[in-house]
Amino acid sequence: MRAARCEVYGGPADIVVRDIEAPEAGPGTVLVDVAAAAVNFPDLLFIADRYQVSVPLPFTPGSEFAGRVAALGEGVEGFEIGDRVHGSVTTGAMAEQVVAPAASVSRVPEGLTMAEAASFRVSYLTAYHSLVTAGELEPDQWVVVLGAAGGVGAACVDLAVRLGAQVIAVASSPERLEVCRGLGARAGIDYSREDLKQRIKEITGEGAHLVVDPVGDRWSEPALRATRWGGRFVTIGFAGGIPSIPLNLVLLKNITVRGVELRTWTQRLPEETARAREHLAELVAQGMRPYVSEVHPLEKVGDALQRVADRVHTGKIVVRMSEEDER
Ligand SMILES: NC(=O)c1ccc[n+]([C@@H]2O[C@H](COP(=O)([O-])OP(=O)(O)OC[C@H]3O[C@@H](n4cnc5c(N)ncnc54)[C@H](OP(=O)(O)O)[C@@H]3O)[C@@H](O)[C@H]2O)c1
Repeated sequence: MRAARCEVYGGPADIVVRDIEAPEAGPGTVLVDVAAAAVNFPDLLFIADRYQVSVPLPFTPGSEFAGRVAALGEGVEGFEIGDRVHGSVTTGAMAEQVVAPAASVSRVPEGLTMAEAASFRVSYLTAYHSLVTAGELEPDQWVVVLGAAGGVGAACVDLAVRLGAQVIAVASSPERLEVCRGLGARAGIDYSREDLKQRIKEITGEGAHLVVDPVGDRWSEPALRATRWGGRFVTIGFAGGIPSIPLNLVLLKNITVRGVELRTWTQRLPEETARAREHLAELVAQGMRPYVSEVHPLEKVGDALQRVADRVHTGKIVVRMSEEDER
């Protein structure tokens, strides 16, 4: 089978595409013919050997995929050969076939293309737990989404708008904010030029009810300072770096700060996660789709990774393994 390969640690330009032996489904796993794989920020960390854990060379990058079930390992129930599924792995998704634990694979909600299905599972479940399970978002409340034009950010904007909230998107250029307006954001703040705290207060009056933060860095503190009394601040990632913030800000305004880390939430909160998946599938049935901005063929996987490394992409970038993209 054809597969993207990391043979030396480095950058996107070092990734090659090779013919390698196809994997086989072992006990408890599912073999999937991959149609599409989404690019995620950690893919860049794995190929550079800068992730918390090292993946030994050579390996196939890619952590999110969609495709059809090709074989079931011993003991796996609930799937049929040919089922449209999407799932996550640590690495291995940017290939014509991948093996994943059955628990990390689920059926694609009716209505999503393969490219959309590959982009949906992690970003929308993270967005759901951040906004609803942890964020306790109510209709008409003001929610501020940092990094709003990125993969998880765009999912948060889209979902929050559909849940009836008033969304303030925060991104680093007018063009990126335009993408967020297209998703239904009520207002936009360019944090590369504007005063984040002041603008949130101007727009909301008393401050945000909820902040969802996948960026961190020097932006978390002004966003926390612009959260209203009794508001919520949900931290989900550090695309810009890990901030340190004085705890008195939390005390003074009785703010609830929560973290959401999808992998452990899914393991430890199965009921909440099942509810989230059900609600997300209903919203997909009503027309909700992840924002896929670019689709690259497998042979151009280096370009796809480079776009994310250069921070020029919006929404999700997908690598396509097959032409299948029927609805
Ligand atoms: N908690 C979870 O379970 C979970 C799940 C998925 C992802 N995440 C994390 O959430 C973060 C965002 O993921 P994503 O998939 O949305 O990534 P992404 O598509 O690359 O988006 C990240 C956004 O952050 C902004 N940003 C600000 N400073 C940055 C910097 N120094 N480098 C790169 N981007 C920067 C960029 O927007 P602007 O240029 O507009 O500022 C970018 O669009 C990552 O840290 C990821 O690991 C967490």
